[in-house]
Amino acid sequence: KETLIDRKLPEHIAIIMDGNGRWAKNRALPRTAGHAAGSKKFKEIARYCNKIGIKHLTVYAFSTENWRRPKEEVDAIMNIFRDYLRDSANFKSENIKLEFIGDRTGMPEDIVELMAQAEYDSKDATGLKCYMAINYGGRDELVHAVRDIVKEGIAPEDITEDTISAHIYTKHYPDPELIIRPSGEYRLSNFLIWQSAYS
Ligand code: IPE
Ligand code: IPE
Ligand code: MG
Repeated sequence: KETLIDRKLPEHIAIIMDGNGRWAKNRALPRTAGHAAGSKKFKEIARYCNKIGIKHLTVYAFSTENWRRPKEEVDAIMNIFRDYLRDSANFKSENIKLEFIGDRTGMPEDIVELMAQAEYDSKDATGLKCYMAINYGGRDELVHAVRDIVKEGIAPEDITEDTISAHIYTKHYPDPELIIRPSGEYRLSNFLIWQSAYS
C-alpha cells in the first residue's frame, strides 16, 4: 500500500497568502477583489491538500502588521473573514478541521465568536488540520510565549527549546517542511519565525 512517505508528501505545508493586490492590479481590479479571489483560492487549496492527504496546512491570512493598511482595505478583509467563517460549515462536511492561531484579543468581537464557532463545528473532523493565522505575528507569538513561561514560574535553568515550542500557538503540531509564498518574494514577513528554522 502506498504510504505518505512513498509519495514524499510534506506533513505540514505553510502558505503566506500574498500577492492579492498585485493580482488585482494586473487585472485592473480594486485590491479588495484580489483579497476575495485569494479567499476563494484558499478554499480550493485546503480541499486539495485534504484530498491528497496532507496532514497540516497553515495559512497566513492577516499579520499583526497588516493593521497599518488603509482602513477601507482592513475593513474589506474583515468582511471577507466574516463571509468565509459564516459558510465554514462547508469545511465540516468535508472533514477539514479548522483552527486559528494569532492574537484574538485584537480582533473584532463578532469575528472572534465566529472563529470559536467554526473551531467548535469542525472539532471532530479527522481529515486535514487547517490553521489560519489571523492577527498573527511571529515576534508577537514569542512575546506571548515568554509571558506565559514567566507566569508559570518556570526556572530560567529549566527553560529549553522544548519549553518555547510548548508555549507557542503551534505547540500541538509539527514544524512546516515547506513554506510557499506565491507572490514571488522570499521574505517570511514575521510568519512562523521559530517554526521555520528547518523549512
Ligand atoms: C496579501 O496580499 C493579503 C494580506 C496581507 C491580507 P497583499 O495585499 O499583500 O498583496 P500584494 O503583496 O500587495 O500584491
Ligand atoms: C504577509 O504579506 C502577510 C500575509 C500574507 C497575511 P504582506 O504583504 O503583509 O508582507 P510584506 O509587507 O510584503 O512584508
Ligand atoms: Mg503583500
